[in-house]
Amino acid sequence: MVESTGALSVGEVAKRSGVAVSTLHFYETKGLISSWRNQGNQRRYDRKVLRRIAVIRIAQSAGIPLNEIKSHLDTLPNTPISVKEWRELSSEWHAILTERIEALITLRDRMEGCIGCGCLSLTDCPLRNPDDVLAKDGAGPHLLSSEQK
Ligand code: FES
Repeated sequence: MVESTGALSVGEVAKRSGVAVSTLHFYETKGLISSWRNQGNQRRYDRKVLRRIAVIRIAQSAGIPLNEIKSHLDTLPNTPISVKEWRELSSEWHAILTERIEALITLRDRMEGCIGCGCLSLTDCPLRNPDDVLAKDGAGPHLLSSEQK
């Protein structure tokens, strides 16, 4: 039941957001959402938490780590997340996703050479030496010594 203040109980937030109560508590321990206690010592949430949870869920489904989500949300004022703020957040996260997708495509392409190979060679396998990092040391026997470091 909604209190006259408009504050929501944890059960109401769970129902309206589609997120389990345990997840809400987890978000709270991570500082992603906040609540207060009423006179009966029951947890209460402001309605603005619903938009915040929606943003958290979307970001999580996109693979954005919770600490990154938190650092982005921490830059916002303590008001309901506006359409403009969501546009900015989603734009930033879109760019992060694009970067990760491109890195995964590069990794996938490099892995093609490993299929059916099995050498795991520091010199020949692009996944063991992705940027040819040993080349900067010049030619010579530094392969063995670098593996022992
Ligand atoms: S395992 Fe041989 S190229 Fe990667």
